[in-house]
Amino acid sequence: MTLEEKAKLLVGAGRGFGPPPAALTAGKKDSTNARPVAQPAGPMIGVTEQKVPGAAGVTYAIPRLGIPAMVLSDGPAGLRISPIRKGDSTKTYYATAFPVGTLLASSWDVDLVKKVGVAFGSEVHEYGVDILLAPGMNIHRNPLGGRNFEYYSEDPLVAGSMAAAIVNGIQSNGVGTSIKHFIANNQETHRNTINTIAGERALREIYLRGFEIAVKESNPWTVMTSYNKVNGTYTSERADLVTTILRKEWGFKGFVMTDWGGGRDPIAQMKAGNDLIMPGNPTQAKAIIDAVNNKQLDESVLNANVEHMLNIIVESPAFKKYKYTDKPDLVKDAGVSRWAAGEGMVLLKNTAGTLPLKGRKTIALFGNTSYDIIAGGTGSGDVNKAYVISLDKGLQNAGFTVNASLLNAYPPYIKDAKAKRPKTRMFQAPPPIPELTVTPAELTQDANDAAAAIITLGRNAGEGADRKLENDYYLSDVEKDMIKSISAAFHAKGKKVIVVLNIGGVIEVASWRDSVDAILLAWQPGLEGGNAIADVLSGKVNPSGKLATTFTMDYKDVPSAKTFPGKEYPDQATGEGFRRQMPAEVTYEDGIYVGYRYYNTFKVAPAYEFGYGLSYTTFGYAGLKLSSPTFNGKITASVTVTNTGKVAGKEVVQLYLSAPAAKMDKPAMELKGFAKTRLLQPGESQKLTFVITPRDLASYDVANEQWLAESGTYVVSIGASSKNIKQTAKFTLGKETVVEKDEQALAPQIAISELKSK
Ligand code: BGC
Repeated sequence: MTLEEKAKLLVGAGRGFGPPPAALTAGKKDSTNARPVAQPAGPMIGVTEQKVPGAAGVTYAIPRLGIPAMVLSDGPAGLRISPIRKGDSTKTYYATAFPVGTLLASSWDVDLVKKVGVAFGSEVHEYGVDILLAPGMNIHRNPLGGRNFEYYSEDPLVAGSMAAAIVNGIQSNGVGTSIKHFIANNQETHRNTINTIAGERALREIYLRGFEIAVKESNPWTVMTSYNKVNGTYTSERADLVTTILRKEWGFKGFVMTDWGGGRDPIAQMKAGNDLIMPGNPTQAKAIIDAVNNKQLDESVLNANVEHMLNIIVESPAFKKYKYTDKPDLVKDAGVSRWAAGEGMVLLKNTAGTLPLKGRKTIALFGNTSYDIIAGGTGSGDVNKAYVISLDKGLQNAGFTVNASLLNAYPPYIKDAKAKRPKTRMFQAPPPIPELTVTPAELTQDANDAAAAIITLGRNAGEGADRKLENDYYLSDVEKDMIKSISAAFHAKGKKVIVVLNIGGVIEVASWRDSVDAILLAWQPGLEGGNAIADVLSGKVNPSGKLATTFTMDYKDVPSAKTFPGKEYPDQATGEGFRRQMPAEVTYEDGIYVGYRYYNTFKVAPAYEFGYGLSYTTFGYAGLKLSSPTFNGKITASVTVTNTGKVAGKEVVQLYLSAPAAKMDKPAMELKGFAKTRLLQPGESQKLTFVITPRDLASYDVANEQWLAESGTYVVSIGASSKNIKQTAKFTLGKETVVEKDEQALAPQIAISELKSK
């Protein structure tokens, strides 16, 4: 392979947009890292018009050596390609919109998530794509994170386990994945410039840990570095991240790619071991060739990166000349999507058996998104699906009648209001349309005619922007009025009011939840959403999802509320229009105290805690047993769960560990295992077993760069949630143990005042 071929292979084949504007290319200095800027700035979302139209990018082909181009395509909730092709009016290329990551994680069911992956990956394969740019697995650090819907959880064990499950499922089809965004892409505000300042322990235990689990348990073909900097340097330019931690410590075998337009300096990226620069442009390849010729870059660096890529290329469908059909089984996959959606919905409230709905009566269905359901978020996480089942359709498919006056009023109102909306820029979540208002007289009539009211509240967000507090995290005044007036009218007639939350991330619930009888958190449930919600409302599916992210009483209770989304430096901004880039920084003062680690330790009562979710049945827990009272290499814990109610159901069981914390600062408890029972009939029991490993006992001891387990007594808590602990047991570790020695990496350059519990 010639030097030129190597450089081109390591830089994506671009998107046919031509070279970046001269002002942004080599020669101009970026004040933030004083390196030549060699690629375009600004939010970049890939769309190719090549082999698979609408794919995000392609790698460079070298036919002389039999190296094909690989096609890379988004995204986490389904394959994002163009559904219609120029000059091809006979066929469509729709893909299945699966439920978003937040919903999948709420299933706490790795077998289910793997099966979703198997179906998902078959579409990737049959549409001629080699590598899927998913799953997204950053931590839900703050509820306003614009891409939280794409991600799984506030907890790294849940995030890592879900990512591993879906990667194993997708890759079983012979296609690749790209776990992203490595690391700390926990906000969208200034995503291309934000400098995340975080301590080594928080990075190791919270922000890296999920990726570590995914790499070790599923061997993803690729890892995508994030847009942000960590402690002063872009993640794609950090050898300590992509080589020391990822390859050396975790044994990663695939290749690393940048996010689209991520980082600044191709030479630093090559040296760091960020093998592939995406989407790629000729300026970057030239910069790499020049650097080798000028002896600024050793060609052996390129050889290593090329080898990483070739190891994957030889596995790819493109290399194997797979004859894809462009005909995945969309009917079968829609069934998978519906099933998964039902399994990940969370029943938050259910007073006096409001749900499941009894009989197949008339429902008064309120809320725009009842009729125009949000299947998934916006941006590269969106999917071009052939249809979306709304809740009115889903209810009718399940045999319910939807109150005719509402059914006649909503759809034309929504169509009209949408047509009046201002145009948004590419991928920007459209502003929500105002809720249809119903007069008091109409409401009284609806309450007479219908057996119950359902109000859907919808929220959408996506890449490029974080969510807002007003009219998003908090309900709008119109929504609050709607809940109040509908509840008053229906309660006056002794009828129940159910709220369905069609949201991608957390909203405020505490101020209004007492007004209604039941709340079903349906998340953004994919293209079969309306059917899946009706499955749960009707009792065809007994809800078994639990929260993988906390709903706090108020935004101010969130530990990162004070530091999110950070400080900006407008006087240092560069570029114009959508290319405008502003240096900014965010300091993770919350340290390791993210999510329930904070709420439990600092005794802040949430509205609905991590791990919480109701069922139409009840469960009993008994017989927690540890394999030994002393820790010696490992301990197993077993517990028996019994369905003590009247209908069949599944229970998510969680294992939390509390450490002695004599020397180290430790959260009150941390999730170290979870399992979901099979469908248990009334009276039926299942024994679940968990393995506790040395690493589960350990925390990262920054001073000595090691994972350290303190001696003393550890408490195992088996819970139905992080607050509803059912059984506890203790074991001791006789001697302080160094579980693993690591190298220093990602150290902050400045002192951070991190939250401590003592
Ligand atoms: C997003 C990635 C995505 C890529 C390609 C970027 O803007 O951050 O998640 O995979 O575009 O479309």
